[in-house]
Amino acid sequence: MKLTPEQHAQFERDGYLFFPSLFTPEEVANLNAAVPELYARREAYNVREKGSDAVRTNFAAHLYSEPFARLARHPRMVEPVQDLFGEELYMHQFKINGKMAFEGDVWQWHQDYGTWKNDDLMPTERAMNVAIFLDDVNEFNGPLMFIPGSHKKGVVDAKHDLATTSYPLWTVDNALITQLVRRAGDKDGGIVSPKGPAGSMILFHSCLVHASTSNLSPWNRVSVYLSLCTVSNHIRRFKRPEYIAHRVFDPIACLPDDCLVRDYPVDLPWKDGMPAQALETSLDVLKVAA
Ligand code: SIN
Ligand code: MN
Repeated sequence: MKLTPEQHAQFERDGYLFFPSLFTPEEVANLNAAVPELYARREAYNVREKGSDAVRTNFAAHLYSEPFARLARHPRMVEPVQDLFGEELYMHQFKINGKMAFEGDVWQWHQDYGTWKNDDLMPTERAMNVAIFLDDVNEFNGPLMFIPGSHKKGVVDAKHDLATTSYPLWTVDNALITQLVRRAGDKDGGIVSPKGPAGSMILFHSCLVHASTSNLSPWNRVSVYLSLCTVSNHIRRFKRPEYIAHRVFDPIACLPDDCLVRDYPVDLPWKDGMPAQALETSLDVLKVAA
């Protein structure tokens, strides 16, 4: 899927592109069917909400779940990103975020590249976030919110918040958010939130400032978040476990377009469990070496 010159210009200006209903209900159903069993697993790669059993984030399903391994190689998702960067891509991070009915907690205002730079030593912002909705997203179930054009600020000041939710995040303070929203139009478009049916996809710049509120509605908001990094821009430090920040930098080879509805063989290296080294970090490695 090639992007039009208008889409290139829009991405440059706003920092995101929205593709409503890019995946069909049948494709989405095949992905959704795998989620409850993945979320039921008692594994380190399932991060639960603070004080609740609801899964906030499942990491790395593309390494042990067939439907998600196929999604990770889907040309409708990979090709536009490749087109924008003009380079091959590897999977830096793969998450299935629950944002479950009544239980899904907030994601504070942040930029993803801030974390990738600070924690993983990713050299530049040449990496893309992709969100794929597995449930309908509406104004009630905690849609993503963006500050359009905020990616142009590059990396902004952030603090490591280890307390607000169950997942540590480099977050942007309220004063700077207020400034960025004003600059983007304040009440007139300073915050946007693309909403739409399950199967919709958003591409967003790794420096785009974003957040989402909690989900007080009775509707789940399960979405897949894939972070695709240009191969030459691979991370330089393994401070976080491998199930969070991947260490295999091979370019993604796409499958045919019908890969979510027909069988194609895919490699599932963690099918029989996560290897011990996936939990090791460079700090452990240094300890062993010392
Ligand atoms: C994220 O920013 O990584 C997740 C946001 C969300 O799930 O709403
Ligand atoms: Mn994020």
